[in-house]
Amino acid sequence: MHGATVNAFTSVSLTPPLVLSALDRRSRACSHLSDGVFVVNVLRESQRDVAMHFAGRPMDGPVPWVGEDGDHPRLGGAVGHLFCRVWRNYDGGDHVLHVAEVEDLDLRGGRPLLFHRGEFPRLAESDPVWALTLDGHAPSTIL
Ligand SMILES: Cc1cc2nc3c(=O)[nH]c(=O)nc-3n(C[C@H](O)[C@H](O)[C@H](O)COP(=O)(O)O)c2cc1C
Repeated sequence: MHGATVNAFTSVSLTPPLVLSALDRRSRACSHLSDGVFVVNVLRESQRDVAMHFAGRPMDGPVPWVGEDGDHPRLGGAVGHLFCRVWRNYDGGDHVLHVAEVEDLDLRGGRPLLFHRGEFPRLAESDPVWALTLDGHAPSTIL
């Protein structure tokens, strides 16, 4: 079982549901990911130590693995898990771009861990711009 902290991660396509991650060619994670299945763990705001653990700085307590004996070993406490299968790999310079199909989802909700300029800032409280229109009505009430 292996994990690596990654912030070079984005959605790509809805049909089929594809995501992309860029991994350093020299990393062990890159060789593990070239083929097969993996889980994306979207870490929770409180899981900085877990992020640093999988970036090479071991955490003090136990690593929160769950489902280690099954098909989908993953990290407990995450705000969500994406169960992925590698779809295509592309040359990305000193990184490899892994495009993977999302075969299943497990979304728990909550505040995700952010990374910006070498820090883990907290997500600001804000209005949900997508769910509401500018006049404050839900889109479903617009004719
Ligand atoms: C916040 C954060 C984000 C990172 N994002 C990436 C990334 O997108 N791609 C990458 O290759 N390494 C990234 N790293 C570095 C890897 O986590 C690190 O090199 C890790 O030790 C690789 O482990 P491995 O060689 O054991 O697989 C990131 C590290 C941190 C702390």
